[in-house]
Amino acid sequence: MLTWDEEVTPTSPALNSGSTSNREVPLSPREALAPQSASLPQTALQSFDDVALAPAAPRAPAAAGSATRRVVASDKRIINGQTDVNQLVPFKYKWAWEKYLATCANHWMPQEVNMTRDIALWKDPNGLSEDERRIIKRNLGFFVTADSLAANNIVLGTYRHITAPECRQFLLRQAFEEAIHTHAYQYIVESLGLDESEIFNAYNEVQSIRDKDQFLIPFIEAIMDPDFHTGTPEADQKLLKSLIVFACLMEGLFFYVGFTQILALGRQNKMTGAAEQYQYILRDESMHCNFGIDLINQLKLENPHLWTAEFKAEIKGLFAKAVELEYRYAEDTMPRGVLGLNASMFKGYLRYIANRRATQIGLEPLFPNEENPFPWMSEMIDLKKERNFFETRVIEYQTGGALSWD
Ligand SMILES: [Fe+2]
Ligand SMILES: [Fe+2]
Repeated sequence: MLTWDEEVTPTSPALNSGSTSNREVPLSPREALAPQSASLPQTALQSFDDVALAPAAPRAPAAAGSATRRVVASDKRIINGQTDVNQLVPFKYKWAWEKYLATCANHWMPQEVNMTRDIALWKDPNGLSEDERRIIKRNLGFFVTADSLAANNIVLGTYRHITAPECRQFLLRQAFEEAIHTHAYQYIVESLGLDESEIFNAYNEVQSIRDKDQFLIPFIEAIMDPDFHTGTPEADQKLLKSLIVFACLMEGLFFYVGFTQILALGRQNKMTGAAEQYQYILRDESMHCNFGIDLINQLKLENPHLWTAEFKAEIKGLFAKAVELEYRYAEDTMPRGVLGLNASMFKGYLRYIANRRATQIGLEPLFPNEENPFPWMSEMIDLKKERNFFETRVIEYQTGGALSWD
């Protein structure tokens, strides 16, 4: 596993566990992002050169015939596209652009949320039960590193393989939001005066958290490997699998026990600042999940040959494993009933969510006839920024930088 202050490169032990790489000298960040050989497939070279190295560079030789041709929207592709990734318009994927605009309209920062009541409650020896404190610490233990994993997956993995600039635009915004989420969790840890080392190392030291992260890491490794390029059915399936794992199983499933627990505390007027932070994060994550699902479905539409019976069976197996891991996390965080919740209620909830994610990407429900035991969670997801559910709105927060020239 990574330690929290370790730089993420493809040679990091955590990201190479199970990898065939035997390189011993760590890659520089540039090497980590750069194509490694002259035999690079054209599509990867084109997308990488355009965006990461030489934004104004002329087209690569294989695309020379279209070097001066204007981009036609219908030529764009989610992966393996040949159009210039520097040209945002003409739009082909308007849903991606609209989601980008929607996420910008929901902008928030952790310092906007007043943590005063949370601090008083946490410090009051009788303010919270031991079970409630365990939930909060386990929650933060998972999330303080989970959103860094999500950000690294986008920036070092997904981004360079996507050749639709309007989708890249959303991914850029999403990466920033993941940074805000990590900031929010750190802000809660700092506000409450928790042991930072304990919380930030939980993903190494708490088995139920470690198991979830170890499930995810191979799917990050696979696509951030500098030698990995799309363009063959096997490679394209590998990317598609990684997109599904992140959108449907990480953002769409692994976050939901934790979100429900903290929002249940907020509904009982406890830890209302933390609960408000989580509400904003839940709204962002729900948008990330929806964008990811649109991306997956568009990729499938353009590449129907990837959606084979074997591939679907493998994805279903991953869904079942993720439900099992998240349920174990629920049991670990709630050894007894607390806040009107207990682990077995989450069995139904996780199955309900897994069914929804499966049908959203065109799979049969894995667990037919599951009902949502927490309908109030749907209201939380629909939070509008103007509405302040817990009425804890804040403090002095500076939205723009003000330079002083004195
Ligand atoms: Fe996040
Ligand atoms: Fe996210």
